[in-house]
Amino acid sequence: MSRSWYAELRYEASSDRFTIPRELRKECKLLMDLTRFPRLNLFPRPTPLHELRNLRKSLGCKPRIFAKRDDLTGVGLGGNKNRKLDFVMAEARDKGADTIITWAAVQSNHCRQTLAIARQLGMDCHLFLQGEEPTVRQGNLLYYTILNAHLHFHSGEDDIQAHVDALVDELKNEGRKPFVVPIGASVPLGALGYIESSIEAIEQGRKMGVEFGHVFVATGSAGTQTGIEIGFREECPSARVHGVAVSRDSLPQREAVARLVNETYTLLGISRFLSPSDIVVHDEYYGGKYAVPTKAGNEAVFLLGETEGLLLDPVYTGKAMSGMLDLLKKGELDDAEAVLFFHTGGHPAVFAFAQEFQSR
Ligand SMILES: Cc1ncc(COP(=O)(O)O)c(C=O)c1O
Repeated sequence: MSRSWYAELRYEASSDRFTIPRELRKECKLLMDLTRFPRLNLFPRPTPLHELRNLRKSLGCKPRIFAKRDDLTGVGLGGNKNRKLDFVMAEARDKGADTIITWAAVQSNHCRQTLAIARQLGMDCHLFLQGEEPTVRQGNLLYYTILNAHLHFHSGEDDIQAHVDALVDELKNEGRKPFVVPIGASVPLGALGYIESSIEAIEQGRKMGVEFGHVFVATGSAGTQTGIEIGFREECPSARVHGVAVSRDSLPQREAVARLVNETYTLLGISRFLSPSDIVVHDEYYGGKYAVPTKAGNEAVFLLGETEGLLLDPVYTGKAMSGMLDLLKKGELDDAEAVLFFHTGGHPAVFAFAQEFQSR
């Protein structure tokens, strides 16, 4: 690609779509494919690509290290969900929804971003939160409170889907138009956001004369890794994508990613099929339990803060970074000219884990 596709995207308010000039269409077919899906255009693109020079110096490692700053996606304090919700919440708007329902853990970045977008669109929002209601509201939970969401706390064992279905019926009976956003917005439509983010990063890297050899991302509900798998496979197939699991072991996570990759290929009309063995997921960095901080994850939060002024979190990006650091230190990524880390946001959760960071 000689010209930069993202500089050439034009937003057409009448159709609420992005278009790409005709002469560029052949060159970026995958991106053209994305322009046919309605979206909200929530934040300015591209998000920055930053080289982490101080981190590299402190590690003394061979590959250059870059961060794709998807923590800077604006709405609701930013994060990876905005990429996915750009498409998913456009569907909600187009269906005439007036109330959004979603669910996740109590300190959920997904809930925060979904709620913020719902509020921007003038919609009401119900959040089903899996876990005990804390006595003090902090981090993401404080944010839900300020944005005045309807909060429903349920224990981890409760059948959340049954509660969601019951609320949908209740709201419909009241004449409202509910729209359910699945956890993490990890549906094929949502994964499109990470195809786009990947192509942005590849293009930004090439403009800086860099080709990424390894790509790291925290992987939970699987939508983010799914988009990255497709984006890199199609546009930079020599790169290896590493998911760092935050909530389950490698095999079930690879199965979840492969399933969603195949569904997303189907949505795009691309006939390709991946199996779990095509996906890389490291499960040795999450400590066996979702949202329970690890020593290495917390050390990564401190290290990135100290060397780069970057704020990570102990649930997602700290753990993912600890995996990348471990492999860099072992020299296992030395075959690469450059390594890319997707900063997927999540920093508001740090305030709910303040006790972890009182001292080093
Ligand atoms: C900060 C952050 N990073 C990464 C992820 C993982 O993304 P996904 O759920 O798409 O796998 C999440 C999911 O909640 C997140 O909040």
